[in-house]
Amino acid sequence: VILGAGFDCRALRLKELAGLPVFEVDRAPMVAFKNGLLAGAMRGRPIRVAVDFQQDVLEDRLREAGFAPGVKTLFLWEGVTNYLDAKSVGAVFDFAVRAAPSGSRFIFTYIHADAVDGSFPAPGLRKLLGRLRESGEPWTFGFRPEEVPGYLAAKGLRLKADLGAVDYRARYLPGRPEGYEFYRVALAETGSESDAAG
Ligand SMILES: C[S@@+](CC[C@H](N)C(=O)[O-])C[C@H]1O[C@@H](n2cnc3c(N)ncnc32)[C@H](O)[C@@H]1O
Repeated sequence: VILGAGFDCRALRLKELAGLPVFEVDRAPMVAFKNGLLAGAMRGRPIRVAVDFQQDVLEDRLREAGFAPGVKTLFLWEGVTNYLDAKSVGAVFDFAVRAAPSGSRFIFTYIHADAVDGSFPAPGLRKLLGRLRESGEPWTFGFRPEEVPGYLAAKGLRLKADLGAVDYRARYLPGRPEGYEFYRVALAETGSESDAAG
């Protein structure tokens, strides 16, 4: 389940996903636009689902689209939490834990909470925030990295990894060490420690 999929085309590119149900979730105008652009590409796959995380019940929309609860699932939520509010972010994690069995995975990105008001020390951040506000897409939500493990545990998720931009750039973009230090990516798993041990 790719949440806030935007122009993500993994579902069409990755042969490992062939034969698996892939749901791409985004706001209705984005879903309609992407369906129009890709009308000829692998008809029927992925299943695009119109959801506004701030207004709709994700669970209802996904079930209507054929999502089967109880099946091990990977949720991917990249570049989206920073546009939402705390209630909508929490509701999505709650849904994932309710819907997916133990051992399902949730990968998401978030910005450091101090980046929302520009107090995070990063060159160019305040200018960037100004541009986002002007374009009508302000950043509205972030986490403090130290609160993420407890936040997820309270939801029923175990944090497996949480990397800042410096770490993931070193790993995947070794020639480009700088930029977006306030941006982070986390991997969590549903179920308790005892589920994992068992
Ligand atoms: C920065 S893009 C990221 C797209 C894609 N995940 C990626 O990493 O390339 C943010 C996406 O979140 C979607 N989005 C923002 N607010 C949303 C909301 N309230 N409900 C559903 N989708 C939302 C936008 O339409 C957009 O496609």
